[in-house]
Amino acid sequence: MGAIAVIGGTGMQDWPGLEVKRRKKIRTPYGEPSAPLVHGRVSGADVIFLARHGIGHTIPPHRINYRANLWALKRAGVRDVIAIAAVGGIARNMPPTGVGIPEDLIDYTWGREHSYADGVRRPLQHVDFSAPYSERVRNALLQGARRAGVRVAARGVMGVTQGPRLESPAEIRRLQRDGCTMVSMTGMPEAGLARELGLEYAALAVSVNWAAGLGTGDIHAEIETCVVRGMEKVRVILDMALPFLTAGVQHRR
Ligand code: HPA
Repeated sequence: MGAIAVIGGTGMQDWPGLEVKRRKKIRTPYGEPSAPLVHGRVSGADVIFLARHGIGHTIPPHRINYRANLWALKRAGVRDVIAIAAVGGIARNMPPTGVGIPEDLIDYTWGREHSYADGVRRPLQHVDFSAPYSERVRNALLQGARRAGVRVAARGVMGVTQGPRLESPAEIRRLQRDGCTMVSMTGMPEAGLARELGLEYAALAVSVNWAAGLGTGDIHAEIETCVVRGMEKVRVILDMALPFLTAGVQHRR
């Protein structure tokens, strides 16, 4: 059985509670990943943790080497990937500190290296993306949340913007019209690359602010207060969800 990886983002640069066994720096044909892979143990499960924005949170969303990150995880024997994402809430069920497990996404990013199938190292490939997130990993997260007693939005659409600036209110209204219920800057090309490599990938999203134009206060102040509380929820959900992945959960819609 393959290993489980957790990619931590804003608010989760490291993982308190992870019993670290070793750190491994990996080189890939695509360059270096954001950080060394941290092999450790938590809740009875062996996991690999990767800090998406690097140690010290220095790499902006558009400069993350997503190809190297996913490649390194695949090479380390990973099968399941849980991507932690701090998001802006658009739908009512994604208020600040609210948690969601999206089932679909829209990619608004541009200019990022978004495929391995560049016709040079790998032949052209049109991966099936009609279910962008792994239903098995989503189910483990949903069951983990239920067991942890944390309410989650069980569906939702993640809009992924280029960043690093936050959006304008008109951009958020457009995302809303498109059906997005949350917005992040790192969800793509991560999910697409995971699919190209045959990894089972799902996102655990935490709203840390109302998206632009939807809240009343200062966005940065809101992010600062909500990120801590939101990530506490993430950690308890992970603790409860990991055993479902190691045991293997039934496919359920
Ligand atoms: N927009 C995009 N990404 C984000 C936001 C946001 O409002 N909050 C946290 N990540």
